[in-house]
Amino acid sequence: MKHLVSIDDLTKDEIHEIFVKTKKIKNSPTTYRTTREHTILANLFYEPSTRTNSSFFTAMTKLGGKVLNINNVNYSSVTKGESLKDTIITMGNYCDVIALRSRTAGDALKAAKVSTVPIINAGDGNGEHPTQTLLDLYTIWDKFNRIEDLTITFVGDIENSRTIHSLDKSLTNCNKHYRDTYNQEPWPKSDVYYLTRVQKERGSSGSYSMTQDHVSSMHENSIILHPFPRNEEIPEWFDDDPRAKYFEQMENGLYVRMTLLMAYTEILSNKVYLTNNYIWTK
Ligand code: NCD
Repeated sequence: MKHLVSIDDLTKDEIHEIFVKTKKIKNSPTTYRTTREHTILANLFYEPSTRTNSSFFTAMTKLGGKVLNINNVNYSSVTKGESLKDTIITMGNYCDVIALRSRTAGDALKAAKVSTVPIINAGDGNGEHPTQTLLDLYTIWDKFNRIEDLTITFVGDIENSRTIHSLDKSLTNCNKHYRDTYNQEPWPKSDVYYLTRVQKERGSSGSYSMTQDHVSSMHENSIILHPFPRNEEIPEWFDDDPRAKYFEQMENGLYVRMTLLMAYTEILSNKVYLTNNYIWTK
């Protein structure tokens, strides 16, 4: 069985297939509306979420499937001391695929080891966030037609941002720069600026904000991404700038997750395997 624990679980070819399929879905979302009619996704979220949880929910619903939404584990047996292992085994009896968000890096891998259904890591502590990376990469690919030979500057909480960790891993042959929260140096000229908030819940502190000087130093063809939620990193006055791609980025999250759910539930039905060119054929 194939799980999505780390962005490294997907080959470059598979990522490219995901882009192509995502573009098709984005152009014609209703074409796929009954393709997963009897499929159930469990959204098992141990940490707060707006975009990831909602877009997984909407993605499965748009494919005709159903969602078991445990987005506040306080209302589940987790409050009675139930372990991750027991919760995952339990949910495997009631659903076909699990999107798991957890508080500790490594939890998604632990879950994958005991799960009878595919685990999709929806963010594990300060570990990884591979589905976010796919929508980040898709947004970059859509703009530049490639995900290589680009210059990217990561800004923010480099150490604790799981979205940076996964995106950083997946971008090869790129020229990368890092500016953490306290680094006041100007940002180097880049194609992509990827900003993240300070992860206060993981013990980080401080804050930073993009200024008019930063904006003036960016070339016209660059893009600014942010996984959201934002705090003060990107002031709202920047939102109407054509380089602000973060709202489109979050929209892409829906289509990327539709693609992923289609792929991961095909595996389940054993009709098609997630290997080159075979994911989408049925
Ligand atoms: C991110 C996350 O949860 O890691 N949010 C998201 O999924 N879009 C970023 C964050 O919380 O800072």
